[in-house]
Parts: sequence; structure tokens; C-alpha cells
Amino acid sequence: MRFKFFFSLWSVTSSWCIKKICNVRRGAISYDSSDQTALYIRMLGDVRVRSQVGFEPERRGSHPYLGVDFRTLHSRAESAGSIPARRIRRLFSFQRHLLSSRLLRGAPHLNPLHILDEDYCGQAKCMLEKVGSWNFDIFLFDRLTNGNSLVFLTFNLLNQYGLIELFQLDMVKLRRFLVLVQEDYHNQNPYHNAVHAADVTQAMHCYLREPKLAQSLTSFDILLGLLAAATHDLDHPGVNQPFLIKTNHYLAALYRNTSVLENHHWRSAVGLLRETELFSHLPVEDSLSIERQLGSLILATDISRQNEYLSRFRTHLDENDLCLGHASHRHFVLQMALKCADICNPCRPWELSKQWSEKVTEEFFHQGDIEKKHKLEISPLCDSEANTIASVQIGFMTYVVEPLFAEWARFSDTRLSQTMLGHLGLNKASWSALEPEASGSSEEGESEPGRATEEPSSRALSQGSQES
Ligand SMILES: *[C@@H]1O[C@H](CO)[C@@H](O)[C@H](O)[C@H]1NC(C)=O
Ligand SMILES: [Zn+2]
Repeated sequence: MRFKFFFSLWSVTSSWCIKKICNVRRGAISYDSSDQTALYIRMLGDVRVRSQVGFEPERRGSHPYLGVDFRTLHSRAESAGSIPARRIRRLFSFQRHLLSSRLLRGAPHLNPLHILDEDYCGQAKCMLEKVGSWNFDIFLFDRLTNGNSLVFLTFNLLNQYGLIELFQLDMVKLRRFLVLVQEDYHNQNPYHNAVHAADVTQAMHCYLREPKLAQSLTSFDILLGLLAAATHDLDHPGVNQPFLIKTNHYLAALYRNTSVLENHHWRSAVGLLRETELFSHLPVEDSLSIERQLGSLILATDISRQNEYLSRFRTHLDENDLCLGHASHRHFVLQMALKCADICNPCRPWELSKQWSEKVTEEFFHQGDIEKKHKLEISPLCDSEANTIASVQIGFMTYVVEPLFAEWARFSDTRLSQTMLGHLGLNKASWSALEPEASGSSEEGESEPGRATEEPSSRALSQGSQES
């Protein structure tokens, strides 16, 4: 049924899409869709695009939430006015691409500093001097850059590592790629938005500078690590995988209910790489390798596979057999670093950590409200009447964050690792103090990880899957 929809949509849309996308073979919309299809999926995913081409959400038939537009799920009143402009921009993504390359043809060569100076305010520039600090305030940086933290931070890091020069990245393509990545995050999501992506990228940078990694990673590894961090939640709808499955969302069908979101983030990233032709000057094997490894890194952020990665990590550490001269071992370490970066909120200083906790809970409760409204079973941790920010956080820290960071600290026994574990303990104590019933006595609760919560681990894990 659903595929029938795809094919009929395909024939309608193909009449207006430009030739390039029409090169995708008709049968490409399939489970193992890859490559070019990712471009198309990006557009399919946008309900507003569907309605532009004559497909109102109602006509899809497979979605019980007739008017639910995942892009505006979390929208607030004030964002309503900006939708038409965005809709037009996205609808004509490819035309826009053509137009911009036309406009830029013959434009004076842009150097990185020019791009920086153009938009920067002095304070943001100043902050970037401490971009490697664990206390980096990404919320402040986002305000100072007028909501462009992901673009500026990622651009700055790529430049700082010398990757732009080394890989001869075209400045115009790179800038376009980063702007599109940032735009494809949903600002309306309280948590899974471009600021989260910027925060994960900043954390990734901190880990890449840890001695064990800095000494062994190649420039290629660093490029992949930063790109994976920046794109790892691309186009996140603000609801979790179980929600997509139970509402028969087409992405769940497309990815066979397996790592649905992560597959979509990856495909979306590949779509943008191809659309902007960022790596088109590299040998085909290299750009394919980038796409493949990007996928393997992003898929590792699926928290439902947490135990698998954690036990592999533990076994390597027990046997002390990680050999970072091997590309496959370096890749595994990058996967673990990205996993840490993705769930490092509880390891940040309280003032930052607390804001993330509030945002992620807001997103969960919002999902719970939709589930309530549509008389669906309310997902674990999403019921605002049964959970508090504190109870959600304590469970998450105990069952997901602490075990991961304990192993990371074994692997990379540094001051940063100790700092992160220190904040984790303090933050957990702070939440316990705010939630006396969660641990009986907050003083006992904070020193005994096993006792500090009443959340069973499965609930904590499902929360994790939403945070990733
Ligand atoms: C995905 O899960 C739903 C609900 O359990 C099920 O109806 C559907 O057949 C599953 N799809 C695939 C491709 O496994
Ligand atoms: Zn994430």
C-alpha cells in the first residue's frame, strides 16, 4: 500500500523535478535505497513539499495523524509566519542550487577569513578561541551567531584542523553544505535541533584532541568525525522510532523498523553531500568511502544497540588489544567518541547540563501529549504526569551515561575524562536533591549509583534512543 503511494507520488513529482534527480531509476524507492535516492527522500520527508505537488498528507492514507506535519510538530506560534518563505526555499532546493551556482560563477574568490568576518560578531569570534574548552557555552555561542552556531563552529573546526586546505574543499560548496545541514535540522524541536548538533560537534572536537586520539587519528578520520557529529541527527522529526513505527510513518517502512532515524540522518547527510558536490573533486572511491563511514558512525548512535557497542569496547579494554594503527580500530574509537559526544549532556557543568535536561524532557512530554491526544499508548518517559525532569535524568545517567563514560575513562584516562565524571556525579546529586522520592534520601542516592533511581533500565534505554 505504502509503496503504491511512493510510486504514484514519484510519477507526479518527476514531472517537475529537474533532470538530475530524474536520473534516479524508478525502482530506487526501495528498502535498500541508497545514493541518489537520499536526495529524493529528503524531499519526500517534507510534508510541505508533498502538499505543493498536490499530495496533502490526508491522501497518503497510511498515516493516522491526518494533519501531522513532522516539521512543524513542535512549532510555536511565532514561527508560523516564516513558513511560506522556508517552504519555497526548500521546494526549489535544486533550482536554488542551480541559481546559486549561476550567481556565484565569476564571483570573487572567497577565503575563509572573508566568510568569517562577514557575519561574525567580535564576541563569537572571541569564544571560538576557547572552542576546545569543556565549559564552552554553546547556547551563548548560538545567540552571538544569530542562530548559526552549527555553521560557524563546524567551519571553524574544519579550518582549524587544516582540513579545508588538505582536502582542497571548495569554500562556496562547503559553506552551502553547512548552511543546508543547519537548515535541515528542525528549529522547532526543543532538543533535536541544530544547537544539539553543534554541541555534539564541539564535544567531538574535545575528544579528538585527547592524546590517544590526537596521536593516532588521520586527517581523514578527523574529517569524518566532525562531519558525522554535525549531521548525526539531521532532519530529526522530534519524535522517537517507536512513535514512527506505531503511526506507520513512511520512514519506518523504508528502513524496516530498524535504526529508522539514524538511517534517515545518514541518508539525509549523503543527500546533501551529493547535492552540494562537496567531495566531487575526490576520486570516486574516496567519496564513497566517506559516505559509507559516515553511515557507520551515525548508525552507532542508535541507543538500542548501546549494549552491543559497550561490550565490544569493554572487551577491547579488558584485553588491551586496541591497536590504533589499524584503520578498523580507529573507526571503532571514532564510533565510541561520537556516542559519548551524543550523550555527554549530563557530563557538562550544571548550568549547561540543566538546560539540556529541560529541553529533552520538553520534547518527550510533547510526544506524550500527541500520543495522549490520539489515544495511543504513551511512550516511556513521555508522560508528563508520571515523570519529572529529575526522574528522567537520574535513570538516564545511571543506566546509560555512567556505564559508557566509565569505559571511556578507562580508555582515555585524562583530566577531561575525570572532569566529565565529576560533573556527572554532581549533576546526578543535584537532580536527586530535587527529587527526594526518587532515591529515598538524596544523600544516599548520590553516592550509590545503583540505588539512586527507580527507573528500570529498559525505560532508561528508550529514553536514550530519543536523545541520540
Ligand atoms: C514494522 O512494525 C510494525 C508494527 O509492529 C509492523 O506492522 C510492520 O509490519 C513492521 N514493518 C516491517 C517492514 O517489518
Ligand atoms: Zn543526537
